[in-house]
Amino acid sequence: MRLAGKCALVTGSSSGIGRAIAEVFAREGADVVVHYNHEKDEADEVVAELEKLGRRSTAIQADIGSPGEAQRLVDAAVDALGRLDILVNNAGVEIRGPFAEVTEAQFDLVLGVNLKGAFFAAQAAARHMIERGGGGRIINVTSIHEDVAFLEFATYAASKGGMRMFMRAVCQELAPHGITVNDIAPGAIATPINKRTLGDGELLKQLQAVIPAGRLGEPEEVAAVAVFLASDEAAYVTGSTYCVDGGMSRWNKGL
Ligand code: BGC
Repeated sequence: MRLAGKCALVTGSSSGIGRAIAEVFAREGADVVVHYNHEKDEADEVVAELEKLGRRSTAIQADIGSPGEAQRLVDAAVDALGRLDILVNNAGVEIRGPFAEVTEAQFDLVLGVNLKGAFFAAQAAARHMIERGGGGRIINVTSIHEDVAFLEFATYAASKGGMRMFMRAVCQELAPHGITVNDIAPGAIATPINKRTLGDGELLKQLQAVIPAGRLGEPEEVAAVAVFLASDEAAYVTGSTYCVDGGMSRWNKGL
C-alpha cells in the first residue's frame, strides 16, 4: 500500500473525481476526510465505503468559497484525523455562458469555490504541515482549461488558470519544508459535471471526436495520478501539471 498511515482531506469528494480519489486513497492505506457542500447523503455513503475498507473517515460540510470556511474545514480535518499529510483541492463548479452576459454573482461563485477556496485551503494545510514538520502534499485538481481555451466558460477558465499559477508560485515557498504542490488537469471525464453531454448522443459524438483516445476518461484514471503525487515516491515532483485527458489538450485537426 502506497499511502499507509497517511491522513488526507479531499474536497468535493461526495461524487465524481473527488470520490474516486477518496476511495483509491483509502485502498492504498490512507485515512480520509470527505468534504461536501450540499450532498450529505452521498458523502455519508463514501464514508461508509471507506470505513468498510478498514480506514478512519468522516464527512465534513463546508462552503469553501470563503477563507474562514476553508480554514475551519482544514482545522476540522486535523481534529478528526490527528494530522494532515495530503490535501486534494478537488471541489469545483462551472457555469456556461457568453462572456458578455457573465454576472458578478457567477464570477464570485466560480472563482470563489475553484480558486479562492483552493488557495486558502492550501494555505491552511501548509501552515499545519510547516508547524508539524515532516513535509506534505498539496494536489489541485484543475482542468486542461488551466491552459486550453474553453468557449463560453470564461469564469471557469480564469479560475483554473489562477490555480495553475498559484501552484507554481507557492511550490517554491513550500519545497524547503518538504511539501510538494502539483496540479492534475483532467480532460473530459465521465462524472456528474458532464451530465448534459453524456445524456445527448450528438454532443457526446462531437466531444469524442476531439479526444485522440476516442472516449471520455474514468474518474479512477485521474485518481491513479493523484495516488502517485500523494505518495513518498513523488517527493521530488513539485510545481508541475499532469494532464489526464486522452490527448485532448494536444488535439489538432491537421488541415
Ligand atoms: C470540464 C468539462 C469539459 C472538459 C473538457 C472539464 O474541465 O469540467 O465540462 O468537458 O473540461 O473540455
